[in-house]
Amino acid sequence: MNIEQVKTIVVIGAGAMGQQIAMNTALNGRASSYRVILCDSFPSAVEKAQKWAADYLAGRVAKGRITQPEADRISASLSFSQDVDGAAVQADIVIEAIIENLEIKRELFGRISKLCKPDTILGSNSSNLVSSKLADVTVNPQRLLNIHYFNPALVMQLVELVRGPHTAPETIETARAFALSTGKAPIVINKEIAGFVANRINAAVTHEACSLLEKGVASVEDIDTACEKGLGYPMGPFRLMDLTGIDVNYYVRRDRYAESGDEYDKPSPLVIEKFQKGELGRKTGKGWYDYSAADKK
Ligand SMILES: NC(=O)c1ccc[n+]([C@@H]2O[C@H](COP(=O)([O-])OP(=O)(O)OC[C@H]3O[C@@H](n4cnc5c(N)ncnc54)[C@H](O)[C@@H]3O)[C@@H](O)[C@H]2O)c1
Repeated sequence: MNIEQVKTIVVIGAGAMGQQIAMNTALNGRASSYRVILCDSFPSAVEKAQKWAADYLAGRVAKGRITQPEADRISASLSFSQDVDGAAVQADIVIEAIIENLEIKRELFGRISKLCKPDTILGSNSSNLVSSKLADVTVNPQRLLNIHYFNPALVMQLVELVRGPHTAPETIETARAFALSTGKAPIVINKEIAGFVANRINAAVTHEACSLLEKGVASVEDIDTACEKGLGYPMGPFRLMDLTGIDVNYYVRRDRYAESGDEYDKPSPLVIEKFQKGELGRKTGKGWYDYSAADKK
């Protein structure tokens, strides 16, 4: 499938990522000429996404970012469905953004790859599961790859395209052209590796930040200030961990260590301590920083 043939984009999984990927595609896609279908097997998720999209477009109009006729056009190009199989049949590109569970993803790829056109591009947005883990159940795995967006997908420009040993060069080319046509900045990752590129670099920075703290070299605040004021990071590693959840960092490193056996991948002892105390960041009112006073305001 080449980019000129791409007309219909089907996003499967209408959660946090899927709804923003679908909206980004409808808003920016090749001057907004793509037809986008956002589907989910749970009716409540479809309803929620539909409401979110209507509120989002109304908000853009209210802020003067788009006109009402533009919002109407975007609305008309974006549809919602509970019929995943019926949507897959129409797709030129599928972007899967369902729950992070290998068995459920394998079932989905096995099923839809039999239903959709033989050259429909099949991308998984998974952050952790490389497409090789789906290749043996997928019909024509040469059209299979990871298309990895960042949260929030409407804002973050990076899209990582991860080539598996089964992925054809044409698949990467079309996925790259597609991402560019929706205002994204795609990069190609030539080898499957846990964490891909951006999250690995972020993990290395976080690892070093924890190691400096453990050694008593500098405080949480000063390490964050070094990254923000010296390196131009929008947010220091500890502030970022508080935002995304210290438990997320714990689970990712625990699983990576279980897979690699490499001591470097182990969660930091300070992260383990925070995890055990239930001090997980903003969501619990305390992490590396204390948010309880701010919450009471
Ligand atoms: N949240 C993030 O920051 C982030 C960032 C990048 C990538 N990802 C990846 O994106 C994917 C989705 O993450 P999310 O945070 O949007 O999850 P989410 O839980 O918000 O949404 C998942 C959606 O999938 C639906 N779903 C579950 N099983 C399904 C099935 N068999 N068929 C159709 N729909 C099904 C659920 O109803 C839900 O609406 C995951 O693979 C995750 O690794 C997440």
